[in-house]
Amino acid sequence: MSDRERVAACQDRLDSADADAVVLFPSTDMDYLSGFTDEPMERHLFLFVGRTGDPLFVAPEMYDAHIRHDSWVDDVRTYADGEDPLLLLEHVADELGFRGGRVLLDDRMWARFSQDFRELFPTTEFGLASEVLEPLRLRKDAAELDALRRAGEVADAAMRDVRELGADAVGMTEADLANYVEERLAAHGGTGTSFEPIVGSGPNGAKPHHRQSDREIESGDPVVFDFGTRVDGYPSDQTRTVVFDGEPPDEFEAVHDVVREAQQAAVEAVEPGVPAEAVDAAAREVIEAAGYGEAFVHRTGHGVGLDVHEEPYIVDGNDQSLEAGMVFSVEPGVYLEGEFGVRIEDLVAVTENGCDRLNHTERGWRA
Ligand code: CO
Repeated sequence: MSDRERVAACQDRLDSADADAVVLFPSTDMDYLSGFTDEPMERHLFLFVGRTGDPLFVAPEMYDAHIRHDSWVDDVRTYADGEDPLLLLEHVADELGFRGGRVLLDDRMWARFSQDFRELFPTTEFGLASEVLEPLRLRKDAAELDALRRAGEVADAAMRDVRELGADAVGMTEADLANYVEERLAAHGGTGTSFEPIVGSGPNGAKPHHRQSDREIESGDPVVFDFGTRVDGYPSDQTRTVVFDGEPPDEFEAVHDVVREAQQAAVEAVEPGVPAEAVDAAAREVIEAAGYGEAFVHRTGHGVGLDVHEEPYIVDGNDQSLEAGMVFSVEPGVYLEGEFGVRIEDLVAVTENGCDRLNHTERGWRA
């Protein structure tokens, strides 16, 4: 789908949501519709999409060339530093006719800017842009799926390199290993990381979102590796738990088997029409039956797109039906405080009759 088609689809949804416009702040939503985004910042920079017509930017003058280069949107209304951007906003409001109407603001717009809108347009009703954008972004088109697949291949290649360290990893610190991961992701064609890599060795693996520390890997340590990179703007996210050398703690092998079986059961549960929570239940049943239910302290997965955590969330209570084109993680884990953790994660893309995994590396624990 081209950006123009995305805008048209957004406008259809504005119509059915009975909203007059969506106003985006620098964010993945802005990127999704326009091809341009930047870090959120203190200057007023917005993309307006009205119910009809072409979208337009209100932007600082210094962004004019940058936006015209990155985005297909060619209506860019600029103000100079020192000028009052609110005058431009009033002008655009009159053009799009949203005074007294309903406007959907970027979910991630800073409060100070949403406050500007509320003060300038007291008769306008405000909602969140996710009302129209979330359903659009849920199903990935062919180009998005291709980027996600390639990002998965890069993560897989880096994970193979990590395993190949074997006994050489003993004595390295978690931070050394995280640097190695970043270097290998770049070497295989990824751009940066999709989140700060997690290298959780021994007891640190029992904290699901531990990042990395100066702890040195010891022989027999289970090590949780959770990392990803981006390709064409789309991220990967995978996890493997490995033992580089020596014999792991007594209970480890049994726990690893349970998590692996749970992950397999959850992936097998994925198909169109199934509620998201059924995938969570498939993983949780295996872990509970083995007596580790209390140690599985998070949901089974999260959607992945321009944001590495987005809808659909694979969690108890989410009865949203899975549809072809959705992409999400399947990542059950068991965490034994003070001892070790085990998590295995692949991204999957829902197909017409099941799903495709986007990660394919060995899931066993021996490096
Ligand atoms: Co994940």
